[in-house]
Amino acid sequence: MAAGKNWVLTVTAQTPTNIAVIKYWGKRDEDLILPINDSISVTLDPDHLCTTTSVAVSPAFTHDRMWLNGKEVPLSGVRYQNCLKELRSLANDVEEEEKGIKISKKDWEKLHVHIVSYNNFPTAAGLASSAAGLACLVFSLAKLMNVKEDNSRLSAIARQGSGSACRSLYGGFVKWIMGKEENGSDSIAVQLADEKHWDDLVIIIVVVSSRQKETSSTSGMRETVETSALIQHRAKEVVPKRIIQMEEATKNRDFPAFSRLACADSNQFHAVCLDTLPPIFYMKDTSHRIISCVEKWNRFEGTPQVAYTFDAGPNAVLISHNRKTAAQLLQRLLFYFPPQSEADLNSYVIGDKSILQDAG
Ligand code: ADP
Ligand code: DP6
Ligand code: CO
Repeated sequence: MAAGKNWVLTVTAQTPTNIAVIKYWGKRDEDLILPINDSISVTLDPDHLCTTTSVAVSPAFTHDRMWLNGKEVPLSGVRYQNCLKELRSLANDVEEEEKGIKISKKDWEKLHVHIVSYNNFPTAAGLASSAAGLACLVFSLAKLMNVKEDNSRLSAIARQGSGSACRSLYGGFVKWIMGKEENGSDSIAVQLADEKHWDDLVIIIVVVSSRQKETSSTSGMRETVETSALIQHRAKEVVPKRIIQMEEATKNRDFPAFSRLACADSNQFHAVCLDTLPPIFYMKDTSHRIISCVEKWNRFEGTPQVAYTFDAGPNAVLISHNRKTAAQLLQRLLFYFPPQSEADLNSYVIGDKSILQDAG
């Protein structure tokens, strides 16, 4: 270690969120976070919905500590602890010559870290903050600790923080393979196609409510697995077929197939939530009205223009075929769901900034 105790070494990273188009809902192992089905997601552009995390290490730190959106939160939970433990076991020597810092591999067992994280979008409101948050935490700590493992191994670590986080280690279209091994070693994320593969798509996020949801994803899916009769049918019969079809649709940039599958899967996910005892209502009236609006438009055109998907919350993720349909979508949204005040205009988060010019 370096001579004095007054040094601090920091790393900052930014990770985008990802939105599942074939959803993960249900675990077969709660501790390791192993899912009951494969899932596929789209990772958003890093300059839109994202987490920024700074991690620091110093001999002056006496405990591991974390601040989320400006407030200290406990790191004692088993998920954070599992990630920290595994990263520490993979840490390597770090040398910063100009600062006179030298950390050896075994020093990491004694050193403590401070983590400061900020989400630029609502936390715990169904916009996958746990995905961006945990992926960013694992990625930034891995950089700080000079962990040399590839993204696939890091995805398995992030998975233990929050299942959906494993998919945020990659851009573009990503599949989380559920795996077969009991120890979870093959439950990892793989990139199906990079961000350039289908860059015509424009994603518009409509924030219906930024309030924290009543039922977290973790407890919601636990209750579903315990009480829903539909979930087994979904996981065993429906999703495996949809995964194959969705891989095909993204590979061929087949928007009608992509849209039909994404909408159907979102609707089935909310149907199993309703089939849970007591039922979980993640969507609100406005969410249902958005679905009707998109369905009517798609039917009127005769072929899908826009796909919708809702995570475990009321907020809509709308994926339009191209910039022209995105501009039309934005016009419709502003007409049918006018923002109540100028501040509410922030409720429309656009996944491709250039579209603002088209729409304006
Ligand atoms: P969401 O739909 O936003 O993913 P979840 O219920 O799945 O909601 O997870 C929310 C939880 O994820 C938060 O209460 C917090 O524990 C964790 N989380 C969110 N953002 C971060 C972050 N940036 N860093 C660490 N943990 C985070
Ligand atoms: C509806 O990954 O948040 O967003 O693994 O318990 O942390 P934990 O749950 P989380 O669940 C995400 C559920 C979902 C669908 C998805 O992202 O695939
Ligand atoms: Co989540």
